[in-house]
Amino acid sequence: MAYIKNAWYVACWDNEVKAGEMFHRRLLDEPVVFYRKQDGTVVALQDRCPHRFVPLHMGRLVNDAIECGYHGLRFDCTGKCVLNPHGDGKIPAAAKVRQYPTLERFGMVWIWMGDGAPDGGKLPDYGVLDSTGDFSTTRGYIHIDSNYELMAENLLDLSHITYLHDGYLGSPEQIGADQQLVENGGTLSCNRWMPNISVPRIFDMVYRRDGQPVDMWTNMTWMPPSCFLLDSGVHEVGGQRADHGWYYGIHILTPETEKTTHYHFAAAMPPGTRLSEDEARTFASLRRFAFESQDKPMLDAQQAAIGDNNFWDLKPVLLTVDAGPVRMRRQIERLIKQEQDVTGQ
Ligand code: FES
Ligand SMILES: [Fe+2]
Repeated sequence: MAYIKNAWYVACWDNEVKAGEMFHRRLLDEPVVFYRKQDGTVVALQDRCPHRFVPLHMGRLVNDAIECGYHGLRFDCTGKCVLNPHGDGKIPAAAKVRQYPTLERFGMVWIWMGDGAPDGGKLPDYGVLDSTGDFSTTRGYIHIDSNYELMAENLLDLSHITYLHDGYLGSPEQIGADQQLVENGGTLSCNRWMPNISVPRIFDMVYRRDGQPVDMWTNMTWMPPSCFLLDSGVHEVGGQRADHGWYYGIHILTPETEKTTHYHFAAAMPPGTRLSEDEARTFASLRRFAFESQDKPMLDAQQAAIGDNNFWDLKPVLLTVDAGPVRMRRQIERLIKQEQDVTGQ
């Protein structure tokens, strides 16, 4: 499958790459092994020995290098073979593995898997997750058995909240939302405004506790290739956004394979949020429940139903709420084509 390659993808949360250990994950259909050098910086190498193709993560770390667990070839942090323990010890020119640029930002390890030069300007801004900031944050990971574009549609089109998350994140009147699409410098926002609706449980529990109607908004922004930022909250009917009643939802997708996705999510609550520790825990567990026990089973079943068919070949019915997802799919196709035109593939 073709992916947007010249982009930063989230590989994992930073605490998953521990000193002295290897962490491995398939990303964009390629096996990758991560470890920390002795100075703490994260290294990402192709996780396949060029000798007999076993995963390098089955070997061991020797200082800043990996020794293959099968016949002992040793690779440094640039992917170059630096030791052949056999015969005259000569190192064949082909004995090397690909090294991928990485960055640690916002509590995440980012990886650049394209052939183009890594571009720091293409990193989305998730500064609200910085541990030095004022926001209180929670974070999690779920493995999804569906293509990342199906999951991206789920995030950009929140009209499903009323049905799939009814009683938690959703309430019936949300279906009449006023929906606006805003394109801005390559990003796409799908903003839903829902005045005078019954308050969804998650907001009532953590912000209002009176069951009274509210005005609610969900403003979801997609940043290519597959990063999302949700600004969502409530205030009293006809009221103003105050220093509480809202939060940022962070949703980041990384394709694992054509039919599976790594889903990293987080929430960031602003300093004025009035939540006890218990309530904050309940808020986080309700969100996780919605993603893991409501979204995931639907997406996994959706992928199983689509199987090997091409999405467009199945001629999906298009509704008004699909305007955002369709534009996003077209934009992804354009970006992939641009890359292929440049590399002549
Ligand atoms: S497979 Fe790695 S050294 Fe043989
Ligand atoms: Fe959902």
